[in-house]
Amino acid sequence: MKKNSQEVKHNCSFCNRTITIHSQYDMPIYDPQTGFAICKNCIKDIYNFIAEHDKREEKAVNRKFAESLDDILAKNKPHVIKEYLDQYIINQDYAKKILSVAVYNHYKRMKYGYTHDPKDMNIEKSNVIMLGPSGCGKTAMLQHLAKLLDIPMAVTDASSLTEAGFVGSDVEVAVRNLYYAADKNIERTEHGIIYLDEFDKIARKSGANNSITADPGHEGVQQGLLKMIEGGVVEFTAQGQRKHPEAPTIKVNTTNILFIVGGAFVGIEDIIAKRLKTDATSIGFGAEVQNKNDKPKYNSLIHKVRPEDLIQFGIIPEIIGRLPVICTLEELSEDDLLKILTEPKNAPVKQYQELLSMDNVKLEFEKDALYAVAHKAIERKTGARSLRGILEDVMLDIMYEIPQSNEPRRVIITKDCIENHTKPEILPLETSKTNKTTENN
Ligand SMILES: Nc1ncnc2c1ncn2[C@@H]1O[C@H](COP(=O)(O)OP(=O)(O)OP(=O)(O)O)[C@@H](O)[C@H]1O
Ligand SMILES: [Mg+2]
Ligand SMILES: [Zn+2]
Repeated sequence: MKKNSQEVKHNCSFCNRTITIHSQYDMPIYDPQTGFAICKNCIKDIYNFIAEHDKREEKAVNRKFAESLDDILAKNKPHVIKEYLDQYIINQDYAKKILSVAVYNHYKRMKYGYTHDPKDMNIEKSNVIMLGPSGCGKTAMLQHLAKLLDIPMAVTDASSLTEAGFVGSDVEVAVRNLYYAADKNIERTEHGIIYLDEFDKIARKSGANNSITADPGHEGVQQGLLKMIEGGVVEFTAQGQRKHPEAPTIKVNTTNILFIVGGAFVGIEDIIAKRLKTDATSIGFGAEVQNKNDKPKYNSLIHKVRPEDLIQFGIIPEIIGRLPVICTLEELSEDDLLKILTEPKNAPVKQYQELLSMDNVKLEFEKDALYAVAHKAIERKTGARSLRGILEDVMLDIMYEIPQSNEPRRVIITKDCIENHTKPEILPLETSKTNKTTENN
């Protein structure tokens, strides 16, 4: 085969042509052991063949999706979405309503887009900003919503995002996450929902709520996100691929993506209170408000939040302007926490009962014990977030000890176990009739 040391020729096993090899790209596939080879031309042909097939398939999927929108609309009416959320999230009715309507409208806008000429009237999307104290259910609500939806939704932690050039993930990661949630279908990605969690963490540090230290990084992240929220083409590389000039990119237009952002915005209630006080003073009702020395309660303030408070907090006005729907969640009461322990479909108490039942053990919580847990959680001031940890503390020893035998037994958690770390009693199953306790099945 070799004429001289320069000229190398191989036969393409596919098209049978003899190819002179100038570089490895002339015959990208070549196995010297067997001589099996495929030439550049053939590889290009095969690639085009597959790409065309994929495109046809994607188009068919998209057509099917557009046709299914009527069904989707029929089964995702706002009250149905809310009822679904009710199974998992206690209280927060206002937030549930807002989100249910936002999602339903998103579907409607999609249907409108498929059935109308883009030159006709354009139904604008209503991006949502969610605020509420730590552990009140923001992240949990969005996670449950994501499971219900017929369109892709991806949750991205905004606090992990950095301005291009800084260590960390670029803002495009939010769109990339959605792209993977949409099984790499661009069309579906472009109609999905992006939830940016911990959004308050990218507030400008120079915002009134923060110290004076300069903070160009966060402002840069906001600028990056602004472009995405405004709608435009976002380019990113496939997962795991490093960004470099030759890396192939995926392009997604974010114009129709619904953005929901959420965060605790710690201290926002003080900004609201301060504004209300000045408002009241300037129109002559100052005395009434100022008389009250005690800090007004979070729940009575949070619903009064206005865009200017969020700007004051350190979010740039351009972003606030593109998040027209403000969704507020309330601080949970001790009663709410009590319900969270046992009522939701995936309530922590139910989960422990399920776990122990696998070891033949019936787990019961005395009513007072549940009150004690809720009370302890309130003291920790992290909403429902601390419930799990408090339960885990009492359950650890039990969960360690129980599997040592297969005997059917019952375990009763009392108030004393919660308050004084007394070890819960493990009893034989027969005693179960005598003691009146709460069960949640
Ligand atoms: N209203 C609620 N109903 C049921 N469970 C709740 C509720 N609020 C919080 N939880 C539970 O408490 C835990 C923490 O809630 P979540 O992560 O949603 O808090 P968050 O509002 O996102 O707070 P943060 O601002 O600190 O992120 C979750 O396990 C969640 O299931
Ligand atoms: Mg959260
Ligand atoms: Zn060939």
